Amino acid sequence: MKKFYLETFGCQMNVHDSEKVVGTLESRGYEQVETVEAADLVLYNTCSIRDKAEQKVFHRLDQFKRSGKDKLFGVLGCVAQQEGEKIFDKAPHVSLVVGSASYSKLPELLVQLETGSRHVTGLSLDTDETFETPLTRRDNPHRAFITIIEGCDKSCSYCVVPFTRGPERSRASASVIEEAHQLAAAGYSEIQLLGQNVNSYRDPSPEGWDFSRLLEAVGHVPGVRRVRFTTSHPRDFVKEIIDAIDRTGTLCNMVHLPVQSGSTRVLAAMDRQYTRDQYMQRIAWMKNARREIAISTDIIVGFPGETEEDFAQTMSLLDEVEYDSIFSFKYSVRPNTPALALGDHIPEEEKSRRLTVLQEHQRAIQLRRNTKLIGSEQEALVEGFNSSTGQWIGRTSQNRVLNFTAPPREDGIVPERKSVIGRYVPVRVLRAGPNSLAGECRAAL
Ligand code: 5AD
Ligand code: SF4
Repeated sequence: MKKFYLETFGCQMNVHDSEKVVGTLESRGYEQVETVEAADLVLYNTCSIRDKAEQKVFHRLDQFKRSGKDKLFGVLGCVAQQEGEKIFDKAPHVSLVVGSASYSKLPELLVQLETGSRHVTGLSLDTDETFETPLTRRDNPHRAFITIIEGCDKSCSYCVVPFTRGPERSRASASVIEEAHQLAAAGYSEIQLLGQNVNSYRDPSPEGWDFSRLLEAVGHVPGVRRVRFTTSHPRDFVKEIIDAIDRTGTLCNMVHLPVQSGSTRVLAAMDRQYTRDQYMQRIAWMKNARREIAISTDIIVGFPGETEEDFAQTMSLLDEVEYDSIFSFKYSVRPNTPALALGDHIPEEEKSRRLTVLQEHQRAIQLRRNTKLIGSEQEALVEGFNSSTGQWIGRTSQNRVLNFTAPPREDGIVPERKSVIGRYVPVRVLRAGPNSLAGECRAAL
């Protein structure tokens, strides 16, 4: 049997694409192995969102090469789409380059390789099919991703995604709902709806559902206990989404709403299509919701032309919103993006300084917000057990990590970990750090 090794780098879209690739290959008689050495086919699903991610790809490909000859090497994902055939020059041991819009063709492309083609590519972006496959091999037994929309039609000036993942293609609502039913029946209780911009979901079928309608319908699928979605663009984020969360207990009270900058001037240069005030309007909807909604965001520092004053506005936005978590990055020039023409004149040290200032400030905000939860009771989905601390690892609806202990059972039986993982249990919060909570479950598990 042919053996393949697959390594994944990048966002959740990439992680989920890899699950589909595994399912597709397994259905063709390939077996997944855990090491490069044991494989005949070595695949690397890559990310090109920032320069560092891309450099890592070539470094890693080099390491793969040293692990053995007589293997086929393939590059998948965003670097594949971005660099295309140039990869064959940069990494001559690679013979397969396939972008995310062409994974459904993977089996055919592999046949071409096996029948002697030296270089094979799948780079077309003009696809109107989404990569829907019943063959997905999911990694987590309790939480499953469902792609609802692929690609991106925005033109944020710093971003490679419209180039690497192509134009938006939404998936029919009936197909999404059917997959949610199947997943629930198979024991998955948490569903995460995925897309580069889930808010611009437009049902291509006659039902014509928008995102909030779809979200609520997934929340009503029997057996589904938690629904999350990522990622959202503020411009398309409508109040109906918050109304749906208010009405539907299974929709998690958390929203990831990338802002990128607190300065309206920088937002315009980034072509984000909203002002700070418009963004704050969306935040106000969340703050006025019935349940408290955890809010997270993405921020870029050091975008070309970002002044001290612009940066100060991003800092003040952190205080105004009081995010529950942020992902923050130094601006990185990307090929094929409009901002390439703007240059990159904020010195690296200054970018690093701004990033550190931002992250330290946010750390204090998070500690403050998490501390407020001490004494509260949270429902945790048990995700694992940490043998070194003797604590269960749980996750709250707001996506916080909640480590906890539980009293021993009266009958003295130590529960099998497998039987506890995946359960939802009530946990009293006793301590808080900037990145996690700790507590205890009152009842034995
Ligand atoms: N440089 C730095 N960060 C970027 N992101 C996207 N493109 C770039 C870039 N060129 C960040 C944005 C986005 C997140 C996924 O990555 O914050 O929301
Ligand atoms: Fe990276 Fe963007 Fe591609 Fe995801 S879509 S893997 S973040 S470049």
